Amino acid sequence: MSSDFFRKRREKLANSMENNSICVIESATEKLRSNDVPYPYRQDSNFFYLTNFDSPNAVLVIYRSQKGKYDEFFFTKRPNSHDETWTGKVPSKEQVKSRFNFKHCVYLDEIPVYLEKYLIKCESIYHSLEDSSNLKILVKTISSQIKKKYRKGITPPSSTICLHSKINKLRLIKDSLEIRQIKTSANISSMAHNALMRKCQASLTEKQLQYFLIDFFNQHNAVEAYPSIVASGENSCILHYTKNSSALKSGQLLLTDAACEKDNYTSDITRTIPINGKFTEPQKKIYNIVLKAQMKAIEKCKANNTLVDVHNEAVKWISKGLLSLGLLKGPLTKIIKNGLYQQFYMHGTGHWLGLDVHDPLDYQEDDSPIKLRPGMVFTVEPGIYIRPSKQIPKSFHNIGIRIEDDVLITKKGCVVLTHKTPKSVAEIENMMKS
Ligand code: GLY
Ligand code: MN
Ligand code: MN
Repeated sequence: MSSDFFRKRREKLANSMENNSICVIESATEKLRSNDVPYPYRQDSNFFYLTNFDSPNAVLVIYRSQKGKYDEFFFTKRPNSHDETWTGKVPSKEQVKSRFNFKHCVYLDEIPVYLEKYLIKCESIYHSLEDSSNLKILVKTISSQIKKKYRKGITPPSSTICLHSKINKLRLIKDSLEIRQIKTSANISSMAHNALMRKCQASLTEKQLQYFLIDFFNQHNAVEAYPSIVASGENSCILHYTKNSSALKSGQLLLTDAACEKDNYTSDITRTIPINGKFTEPQKKIYNIVLKAQMKAIEKCKANNTLVDVHNEAVKWISKGLLSLGLLKGPLTKIIKNGLYQQFYMHGTGHWLGLDVHDPLDYQEDDSPIKLRPGMVFTVEPGIYIRPSKQIPKSFHNIGIRIEDDVLITKKGCVVLTHKTPKSVAEIENMMKS
């Protein structure tokens, strides 16, 4: 049962807490797009990670006793006729408890009583509540009231500890349910890129292709994980180009950085293809440098290496390639040491991936880069971007190429989760013909 996975995560979190402490975490609030029109709701990633609960107006409290035992309370909205009329039925606490496998489920309007009881007992509180959060204000108010009772020997928690960093540590290693979910997301995104390769032609616009992708994701009950980058010609050299407002022209490249979020799990893919289905010689030369750098970087994706090793490998092969074309002047060691390659490759090679496209997890542990371990998921996405300049032959101008795949570290090495989308020149040209 998937609810067992979520219970296990809460247990793990409790095990990492100090004795005699509580943690408090709330669901994301609805965000307004304009006046009273909300954005589509997206649950807070950490809250979802612990609960599987995908609606607003909920709070999770985990208590770890003096003896190290854990208890949990899930607070949910009380069913009411107003909601029933306007937005739909609210499940009862009994329904929520059994569906999500919480130990205790309580209505949200009862939370002050529970908070007071546990704030009196506990020495530490874990939370990462925003100053504007009503829950934070409630915790503060109750703590101040408790402080006033110091003559009775009652005090509120004396320390507040950041909850996000605790949960982020857990999220670094994906469990088997998460891996399944990321694989599902990656498969949909891969199929979308394949469909785009077949659809791409010069009569279309970047925007039409973005809508094509969105429609593809929606048909698979998924949404864009981030605003798609559909960048043709010179736009391919703009790293975060999201205007997608140009028309596609034959002879140019199309860089598409797009992927879906399915059940809150994301993927992240970039492919660069020739709009008319055939790479020109200069495009092919640069493309094959990026491809080689990416494949070599993926070879470094194994336990005990770090993301820095992966990045350095990509830098090495990109620098070598640009040197061989005369776009950078040697020696190679100087190009790398002095960062001369950054004129063409100015971003990192990868980032953690999961509930967030850029999973906000640590990259350092004890002042050193984190060592890769089975269950970690991240992207490998080197690129070369050549803006027009007098020193560079014209045939290379406005070539922007990135190749991005998602990788899972395993005991044996790694698995490329996005392998279903082709990336060699011949494979892409074949796919575009079909
Ligand atoms: N799509 C965002 C990134 O590649 O990091
Ligand atoms: Mn990425
Ligand atoms: Mn990307």
